[in-house]
Amino acid sequence: MKLLIQQQLLQLLQLLLLLQYSCAQDFHSNVRIAGCSASDREDMYGLDGEVAFYADFDKGHEVNTVPEFADPVDCPGCYDAAVNNQDVCQTSLQNARKAMKDMPLEFDPPGAPLLYPRDHLKPSHHNTLVCQASGFYPAPVRFYWTKDGQNVSLSASVSQPYPQKDLTFTQFSRLDITPEEGQVYSCALDHPGLKGETRSRIWTVEFQKPSLAPSVFCAVGLTLGLVGVAVGTFFLVKGRKCC
Ligand SMILES: *[C@@H]1O[C@H](CO)[C@@H](O)[C@H](O)[C@H]1NC(C)=O
Repeated sequence: MKLLIQQQLLQLLQLLLLLQYSCAQDFHSNVRIAGCSASDREDMYGLDGEVAFYADFDKGHEVNTVPEFADPVDCPGCYDAAVNNQDVCQTSLQNARKAMKDMPLEFDPPGAPLLYPRDHLKPSHHNTLVCQASGFYPAPVRFYWTKDGQNVSLSASVSQPYPQKDLTFTQFSRLDITPEEGQVYSCALDHPGLKGETRSRIWTVEFQKPSLAPSVFCAVGLTLGLVGVAVGTFFLVKGRKCC
């Protein structure tokens, strides 16, 4: 009997642990990724789908993307650790390629990108155009931007590739713009999985024309109201006179 109770307790405890685990999983998820290829490097720490830290290998330092109000913590030594990780990654990569006899990678091409302005659109007001690529493996994807047919890829910034639950990646590119009516922007993706095909999206600047409908409704409503008052007054006066 005692044993049975103990077992039940144990089961309950396990259940509680399990719940706590799934709660913790539902509320927050962090991810740490260090990766390398012949041409690309990544070392990133992410929290709840957002990049928190990453190593900028071009500039040679760690970048903290947590905003001031969220009490970002410094990460001294993180950049050096990231550089060391890259050495380990390159060695492992070479070993793996040898062991697997350069077996070709499986590629997942990205879907068509999403292209949208970050802020509410106003003529001549500074804004940022965001191009979002997702569903691809491996990282990274390359972004090509045009503005009215001109290549403006060099002016765009690119985010760290972010791994998703299905192990594909999501990545963003941002282009600062000053929208004017009729401008045409495009964002195209390049990825080995696309085999030379491109996936692209075009976005044309169109400001909403002020609509006549509200003024028409207002005028009709006001007229009906005034007619109502006139008719009401007429019957009121008439009623008084009659008796
Ligand atoms: C656009 O410019 C970028 C950067 O100079 C270059 O890498 C890319 O090949 C160009 N794309 C096209 C389609 O010409």
